[in-house]
Amino acid sequence: IRDDKAAVGKYVGEYVAKRINAHFEVTDRPFVLGCPTGSSPLDTYKTLIQIHREGRVSFKNVITFNMDEYVALPKSHPESYHSFMWNNFFSHIDIQPQNVHILNGNAPDLVEECNQYEAKIQAVGGIDLFMAGVGSDGHIAFNEPGSSLASRTRIKTLAYDTVLDNSRFFENDPLKVPRMALTVGVQTVMDAREILVIIVGQHKAHALAKCVEEGVNHMNTVSCIQLHPNALLVSDEDATSEL
Ligand code: GLP
Repeated sequence: IRDDKAAVGKYVGEYVAKRINAHFEVTDRPFVLGCPTGSSPLDTYKTLIQIHREGRVSFKNVITFNMDEYVALPKSHPESYHSFMWNNFFSHIDIQPQNVHILNGNAPDLVEECNQYEAKIQAVGGIDLFMAGVGSDGHIAFNEPGSSLASRTRIKTLAYDTVLDNSRFFENDPLKVPRMALTVGVQTVMDAREILVIIVGQHKAHALAKCVEEGVNHMNTVSCIQLHPNALLVSDEDATSEL
C-alpha cells in the first residue's frame, strides 16, 4: 500500500525495472512482459520511461503481450489500445517493434487471432511478469463477471458497467464504446510466472475488498490471484478504504 497513485506508479515502475535487470543478470533469454492499458498503469509507464532515460533499464530484449483490445475499433483510433500503448509507452523506450504483441481486433478471423496469440505466448516460453489493472466490477483484462477461471484468449462481450466506465474515453457516450473485445483469459494471466496487479482510487475499493477478503470467484475475476504462488497487489490508500 502506497500513499497515492503517483507513489504506486513509482513503486511499480522501479519494481518492474528491477525484475528486468535481475533477469538479464542470469540469462540472455528475452524478458516477457504482460502489459495492461487504462489509467491505473499510466504512472508506471511514466516511471519506466524515466528509468529508461536515466539509462537504468533497456527494453531491447523485452517482448510484450498486451492484455486486450477492442473489436472493430480502427488501430489508429486514439482510444484503441494500440494507440494507447504506443503513445504512452512504446514510442518512448528502446523496444523493438517486432517484440510488441497486441491483439488485432480487426483481424479477419478473430478466433484464429486469439488462438495464434496463445501460441505466440507459448512460443516465447510464457510470460515472466504480467502487469494488470482492475475494472470497478473486479475484472482482470476484459474477463468480465462470469468468465471462466480456466479461460484463454478469446472474444468477450463487455459488461454494461464496463461500457459505462470506459465511456469517459469516448466523449462520455456509451453508444460510442465498442461492445466487444479480444482479451487474454484468466488462465492466460495465471500461467505467468509472476502477476502484479495495480489497484488505485476510491472507486476500486469495493473490487479490492472482494479480491482480498472474499473467495476466488468467477464474478470477480481478479480474485484468481489468490491461487497464484507469486502475485503482488499494489494499491494506494484510497483503494483500501473498504478493507
Ligand atoms: C479496461 C481494461 C482493463 C483495465 C480496466 C481499468 O476495462 N480492459 O485491463 O484494468 O479498464 O481501467 P482503469 O485503470 O482506467 O480504471
